[in-house]
Amino acid sequence: MRSRERRASTANVLVTGGAGYIGSHTVKALLDAGYNVVVLDDLSRGHPEFIPGVRLVIGELPDEGALADLFSETEFDAVLHFASESLVGESVRNPDKYFRRNVAGGISLMSAMVKAGVKKIVFSSSAAVYGDPESVPIPETAPLRPMSPYGESKVFVERALGWYDKAYGLQSVSLRYFNAAGADPSGRLGEDHDPETHLIPLVIRAALTGEPLTVFGNDYSTPDGTCIRDYIHVSDLAEAHVLALKALSEGLETTAVNIGTGRGFSVMEIISAVEEVSGKKVPYTMGPRRAGDPAILVAACDRASEALGWTPKHSSLREIVETAWRWHTRAT
Ligand code: UFG
Repeated sequence: MRSRERRASTANVLVTGGAGYIGSHTVKALLDAGYNVVVLDDLSRGHPEFIPGVRLVIGELPDEGALADLFSETEFDAVLHFASESLVGESVRNPDKYFRRNVAGGISLMSAMVKAGVKKIVFSSSAAVYGDPESVPIPETAPLRPMSPYGESKVFVERALGWYDKAYGLQSVSLRYFNAAGADPSGRLGEDHDPETHLIPLVIRAALTGEPLTVFGNDYSTPDGTCIRDYIHVSDLAEAHVLALKALSEGLETTAVNIGTGRGFSVMEIISAVEEVSGKKVPYTMGPRRAGDPAILVAACDRASEALGWTPKHSSLREIVETAWRWHTRAT
């Protein structure tokens, strides 16, 4: 075994998927908080330019050999696990990809952590674990009834984490993200998916190109008939990870925590917000519902404030849309 690298004064954290959208914003927050960060990313959707100066190991999960090497080289205090496939629709068409990458990938990571004696993990979970909720806002105690292999994969890993804690003492916080949106205020990091499926970047694209957005259904039982979601600024989401790590090091027991604002906006309200910020008209057409979309997803956020001391600071719709607009209209 090679000698293990360790800096005395800072905690070493491994961030899987750290070159992606949420991962890279979190890497920035971790560096600002004084952590020593190593990123493991296969760069299938990640951007190395989002994590300048950070050690990047290019590798894919589940690659147990690569994980064993990584854990023997560096003594990590904790892992943040972002690396995952995350398209709900694709997961229905290709569940094999999702169970291999998200479930097998998650288990191989947990297994390598147990072997290396790393006892803390923050896991990227999702509001997709709830499926179509009985009522909103949704507390963490609501039944887990995912409606896609993507959501199922997140439930599986959350549950496995519970068992790994009981058997091996692996402490975890599963952060159940609602709708991540916005961009770092510097304009250096932002959302850059290919293909893009998320609403805010698509509304901005429609404003910029004049190509109409399709609104997926206006016959839901919501005030304007379009779906309502809880949009959370990616910088707030990043901060939640730093606080989760801190809470784990202070003894927080394994738990799952919603990360949202408790407030929802409809698709039409998002269109209006983009028109206001950009000064441009957003062309759109009304289309049919997208399969699997619940009418309303809004988080109950008490646990985030009680367990992590977290409250959103940058998640007004205005700030989300302004930072996203700045990112999408940046000079490249
Ligand atoms: N929408 C449109 N037109 C589009 C794209 C989206 O009307 O072209 C609507 C959707 O129907 C939905 C809302 O905009 O009502 C938001 O859609 P997104 O695709 O941006 O986000 P989702 O709410 O579908 O998905 C998010 C995360 C997933 C997570 C899911 C949990 O991106 O990772 O929440 O339900 F699984």
